[in-house]
Amino acid sequence: MNLLSSNDLTRDAIKEIFGIAERLSSGKERVELKEHTTMALFFEEPSTRTRVSLEAAITQLGGMPIYIDAHSSQRIRGEALADTAKVLSLYCDFIAVRMNSHEGLLEIAANSKVPVINALTSLEHPTQALADVYTIIAHKGEPRNLRIAFIGDIAQNTANSLMLTAAKLGAKISLVGPDACKPNSIYFNKAREYSKVDLSSSIEEGLEDADIVYTDTFVSMGDEDEAAARRKLFAPYQLNADSLAYAKKDALVMHPLPAHRGEEITADVIDGKRSIVWEQAANKLLLEKAVLIYLSGKR
Ligand code: CP
Repeated sequence: MNLLSSNDLTRDAIKEIFGIAERLSSGKERVELKEHTTMALFFEEPSTRTRVSLEAAITQLGGMPIYIDAHSSQRIRGEALADTAKVLSLYCDFIAVRMNSHEGLLEIAANSKVPVINALTSLEHPTQALADVYTIIAHKGEPRNLRIAFIGDIAQNTANSLMLTAAKLGAKISLVGPDACKPNSIYFNKAREYSKVDLSSSIEEGLEDADIVYTDTFVSMGDEDEAAARRKLFAPYQLNADSLAYAKKDALVMHPLPAHRGEEITADVIDGKRSIVWEQAANKLLLEKAVLIYLSGKR
């Protein structure tokens, strides 16, 4: 089994992964993967958290990571992704992939004999969403009682994966962004099969009754050529003290990082008392361990 999309996981599978994470966190589960388990990290894009947490996760489970900067592999000289995938899966037990092209990820998965994990594409960030929703539940409890607002660029990977994962568990989602930015219709419509998903360009309306207010960068990887235009478009949707005031009084603030203080979020908000971004980041390691255990069938 692969984890390519948040849609690969049923509600029960998400709960099972959360159960593994819970047991790991409480010390009730001490799982070691089979001896000398290796995970290739085939990364075409930069990463701090996902790379290091995946490397730490496999190491803490008794295995070993092998980081491949795609730009210094034969890929840069034109080796086919399919051939790369076939070879990596001859040597390694897992392949984690970070690349802009979601189609490229699917091609790797189609040619791999071992589980492939999406470590971010332009469309999805499923391991991030697992850490996010796990963190939300730890603070706010049953997702069915929650309203999660995503403010800013609502058409990108973390928004897609978060809305799908959270909606599958019954959370209500509110997407808040400029009229010129529409959510990806595939993820929007899919998430609506599971829960209420609202779309608004009004911050007041979109953040009303929100238990969680989530934002992410206005300039994602691959969007650099349009950076100035994107900053201008999304500027009114900055998460700051004024916008946060429309949410519930005890609403918490999330951001997957890296953050750009003064752009999508202000320093007083991300570094303030209502921010849970560091716990959110810490939980990436826990949830990636849980995903590796889940995919290895050791449960
Ligand atoms: N949140 C996240 O994916 O961070 P990195 O880009 O540093 O991996």
